[in-house]
Amino acid sequence: MTEDTKLEQIVPAPPERGEVATRRFFLAAAGAAGLCYAGALAYPIYRYLASPEEMAMNATAVTEVTLKDAQKLPAGSVLMFKFGSAPAMLIHHTDGRWVAMTAVCTHLGCTVQYEPQADRIHCACHGGVYDSYSGANVSGPPPKPLKLYKASVNETGVEVSRT
Ligand code: FES
Repeated sequence: MTEDTKLEQIVPAPPERGEVATRRFFLAAAGAAGLCYAGALAYPIYRYLASPEEMAMNATAVTEVTLKDAQKLPAGSVLMFKFGSAPAMLIHHTDGRWVAMTAVCTHLGCTVQYEPQADRIHCACHGGVYDSYSGANVSGPPPKPLKLYKASVNETGVEVSRT
């Protein structure tokens, strides 16, 4: 065994120039893929944990909605729509009055329904009942009335805005 052979066994030969570049490329690609994977995992968690205040701010950011052709809604019927991110309803009563209000139950947040036969708003989750004109909580567990919106009817539609 020569002196050079002994030295090669203790200290490995330096890598060729192309071999180093390949290893660096692999590490960079693995790092980038890891970052993408971490981002793909973190974003849904962030959205899930988004604060209720932030979500409430987004919900109140919209102050007015135009419902095109809603003036054609027959009397005694309802139009469900989104006011921002929350469900809302526009009721055209048989006496000709228009009422717009949120459709989110004040008890636990279920979406309420207008029942034209009984002329009332009902929440199927726990049996809450609201007045279809004022949104007042009439019976059941809802602690507060439904929030009313301002409804302005014109020839092109109905504009609903926060009061
Ligand atoms: S959520 Fe509407 S009555 Fe409970």
